[in-house]
Amino acid sequence: MAKERLDKALASVQYGSRKEVGVIIKAGRVAVNGQIVRDPAQRVTPSEDKLTVDGKDVRWRIGRYYMLNKPPDLVSACIDNLHKTVLSVFPECERRGLFPVGRLDKNTEGLLIITDDGAFCHAIMSPRRHVSKVYEAFVEGRMDLNAPTKFADRLTLADGTVCRPAELVILGEENGLTKIRVTLHEGKHHQVKRMVAAVGGHVKYLKRVSVGSLKLDESLELGQYRELTDDEVAMLKNETKANDTNKK
Ligand code: URA
Repeated sequence: MAKERLDKALASVQYGSRKEVGVIIKAGRVAVNGQIVRDPAQRVTPSEDKLTVDGKDVRWRIGRYYMLNKPPDLVSACIDNLHKTVLSVFPECERRGLFPVGRLDKNTEGLLIITDDGAFCHAIMSPRRHVSKVYEAFVEGRMDLNAPTKFADRLTLADGTVCRPAELVILGEENGLTKIRVTLHEGKHHQVKRMVAAVGGHVKYLKRVSVGSLKLDESLELGQYRELTDDEVAMLKNETKANDTNKK
């Protein structure tokens, strides 16, 4: 492995931005082969040098992938001053470097991928890669029967945002609510709720059931997580490559 700047090497494994890492280094919290180093430009070889931050070994290997069945009381963030985050389901010693792949609203349940792999996260979230996300929802009252056509036809939201074509399937009615399935090919803020609002409905309950061909493992209770299998990770990575509209 080639030598690289200490701040760049640490930023690449999620110790923060280059600037944030620089602050950590200048504060004397980073050691290279047992010696405190305060110069962010110091050159290191990650595969050979032993680096520690606050006395703890830096873990270079990127590649932890989990699916969480997100419960409605956790926010999709790494840090939040008011609420518990989705990382709180992990033991504290395992949280470093992990982050959720995209966001689900606080009251949305279901499939949330959590990883330490920034490139993987970017590929799953990039609209260019067309990784579809499927949601099931309960909507108050009856749905407009023309809603599926409107969803398929570049729906315009209340604020003027135009959506990519999406699929809406009306699954049935239960206790005064309509059950629907929505497939999105992009990820705008509150998108399902805003699209349903744009056709006159109100989402009462929302759950994500799949991301690309990865389906929520229904054996996971709310708040439980499991590691993705190697096959599942490979499948998602292949999908992001196969769908890349900018590839040569
Ligand atoms: N759309 C929403 O409205 N909320 C989510 O959490 C995800 C998609």
